[in-house]
Amino acid sequence: MTGSAAALGKDLIGLEPLSPDQIRVILDTAEPFKEITERRIKKLPVLRGKTIVNLFFEPSTRTRISFEFAEKRLSADTVNIGAAGSSVSKGETLVDTARNLEAMSIDMVVIRHWSAGAASFLAARIPSNVINAGDGAHEHPTQGLLDILTLRDHFGSLEGLRVCIVGDVLHSRVARSNIYGLVKLGARVGVCGPRTLLPARIEQLGVRVFARVDDAIRWADALNVLRLQLERMQDGFVPSLREYNRVFGITRPRLERAPKELLIMHPGPMNRGVEIDSDVADGPHSVILQQVTNGVAVRMAVLYLLAGGAPHLAEAARDWTGA
Ligand code: CP
Repeated sequence: MTGSAAALGKDLIGLEPLSPDQIRVILDTAEPFKEITERRIKKLPVLRGKTIVNLFFEPSTRTRISFEFAEKRLSADTVNIGAAGSSVSKGETLVDTARNLEAMSIDMVVIRHWSAGAASFLAARIPSNVINAGDGAHEHPTQGLLDILTLRDHFGSLEGLRVCIVGDVLHSRVARSNIYGLVKLGARVGVCGPRTLLPARIEQLGVRVFARVDDAIRWADALNVLRLQLERMQDGFVPSLREYNRVFGITRPRLERAPKELLIMHPGPMNRGVEIDSDVADGPHSVILQQVTNGVAVRMAVLYLLAGGAPHLAEAARDWTGA
């Protein structure tokens, strides 16, 4: 395999440092991998012999499992490590943990960490490829990529598409990765939520701010609804969950008043009845589970490209067997 490691760099830390072309390469490379995830035998030999460590210091369902599926479908050897079961719980530093793993000859690290900057800190200190699976409130690049792929699947083009991110933008790494990626690809991005849950000067990222969710719904083609981070509610960001649902919740009556049907997205995990009602989350315009499906293909593409795979070979992978 040759080619695009240099095009993508050694690591994937965020979408902010990527060019529009680099983002497009990842999305295009995910396309053939989508088809492979639908086969009876979902296995390709492209990462055979590579060892990947999934280092998850925060809880995760979707990201951790879909990285593991992606790695196994590309025939890599994988090891999963969580904070509770590792020597981090005894006070070992992140770098010492990673250096000990490197001493066992690993090739890639996928890291989720509570601290913004943890992935780039690690990437600067170890020669293995590092993939950020979410660092504090900084970025969650593969979630941003899978959201953008889902939008592209549905609308064909992202140019001029109006996407509004609704909810707790302040604490959201998903929001940041979506904003960076979508703006680079020519989409128009809005954010909507209580002022207490929008970062100061968010407009400087090139987004439009909506104070009222009904205005955002009238403007948008798609809504990406964010989880209200309940663990932070003791800080008084919103008066109550009931009040939040009444003022900012994505409900069916609210969507029925919109001039057109909107695509409904949510990165998960959802708080049903808080930021989104069940009849919207499970309704005909929801692509929430499609996002999860696309997550595996996007993560296969990222792993493949960082390992030095060339996009045109991923296309040829349609004909490969799992041998
Ligand atoms: N979207 C997302 O990151 O979900 P998990 O926390 O379950 O990985």
